[in-house]
Amino acid sequence: MATPDSLMGSPDDLVERLFAATLGAMDLFSVYLGDRLGYYRALAEGGAATSAELAQRTGTAERYAREWLEQQATTSILRCENPEAEMSVRRFQLPVAYEAVLIDPDSLTAMAPSALVFAGCVKPLPQLLEAFRTGAGVPYEDYGADMHEGIAAFNRPGFVHLLTQVWLSAMPDVHARLQADPPARVADIGMGLGWSSIAIAKGYPNLQVDGYDLDEASVAAARANAEAAGVDDRVTFHCRDAGDSDLVGLYDLALAFECIHDMSNPVAVLGSMRRLAGDSGAVLVADEKVADRFTAPGDEVERFMYGFSILHCLPVGMADKPSVGTGTVIRESTMRRYAVEAGFHETEVLPIEHDFLRFYRLHS
Ligand SMILES: C[S@@+](CC[C@H](N)C(=O)[O-])C[C@H]1O[C@@H](n2cnc3c(N)ncnc32)[C@H](O)[C@@H]1O
Repeated sequence: MATPDSLMGSPDDLVERLFAATLGAMDLFSVYLGDRLGYYRALAEGGAATSAELAQRTGTAERYAREWLEQQATTSILRCENPEAEMSVRRFQLPVAYEAVLIDPDSLTAMAPSALVFAGCVKPLPQLLEAFRTGAGVPYEDYGADMHEGIAAFNRPGFVHLLTQVWLSAMPDVHARLQADPPARVADIGMGLGWSSIAIAKGYPNLQVDGYDLDEASVAAARANAEAAGVDDRVTFHCRDAGDSDLVGLYDLALAFECIHDMSNPVAVLGSMRRLAGDSGAVLVADEKVADRFTAPGDEVERFMYGFSILHCLPVGMADKPSVGTGTVIRESTMRRYAVEAGFHETEVLPIEHDFLRFYRLHS
């Protein structure tokens, strides 16, 4: 049945909505500037500033700093202490309550990563248009550092606060094995910048983690992150296609966070995970918590996932051929089908509350 007119809104509604979206996009890209140029951090650490002071603290140009400060106050992200004053002496402050949202990398309310991800999404726009026309893909590396760092920053607070404490604890047998001797081994598939591997190594102080990712730049950054976190003696990152049938090892746990939907051949990767876990290991996959079926209009989560799918995940998954072309909207039925094709006999959805992720334990 077609979507009823009553659910569609009037043309005026659409105009208002797209105008609000334009303002929203401007907010997001202004946050990108504030994050990348270190403006928010400089305001948090040094206190309220004039444009000259902020420019001096961050090594940026005063005229641009001034425009950004005024824009931020206009859009109610910063507070202007003296809006009536002459522009060179106007002082701007970052409300302390906003610091968790804008500068704390471990905060579960961090939103600066959204700005990075969106800057990453638009980087290869000409290639994206071409991909839509030809059916080609856009390689993950072409989305660049903003996208890779944005995804990592987006997921990092969950890894820091929930991964070992809630997600792995939801599998008591696995949680017990990871704490026990001899030291357990974990394979982290598609680990990106490595924050999941690092969180696991910190949460279980004896075990060893091997991370596998195709993207060279991500692997290099992950190695640096593990070293800075002091866990590089137990965490090793490999630049490998996780679907490679030559991948060997025996692990107590093989896991894949938010990456199966990006893969051109997810069944091969799930097959590797099954092999790496052997008869006694466990397999955990966390991927997008989308609705059971296509509905229009969809809810906010569905809109969020389709938005990423058209801008990033589908083109990335289409870059290597042949590709199954999954996209971000990986429904539970799709994951169950891939699991069966990879040789698993049971797909268990774990009872873990999360707004965006669904957790699958796959049994051989
Ligand atoms: C959306 S990112 C997720 C990164 C990380 N798991 C996280 O949650 O932050 C997807 C990652 O999967 C990796 N990837 C895609 N296909 C892969 C494959 N066949 N083998 C290994 N890694 C792969 C990409 O390079 C990328 O780093």
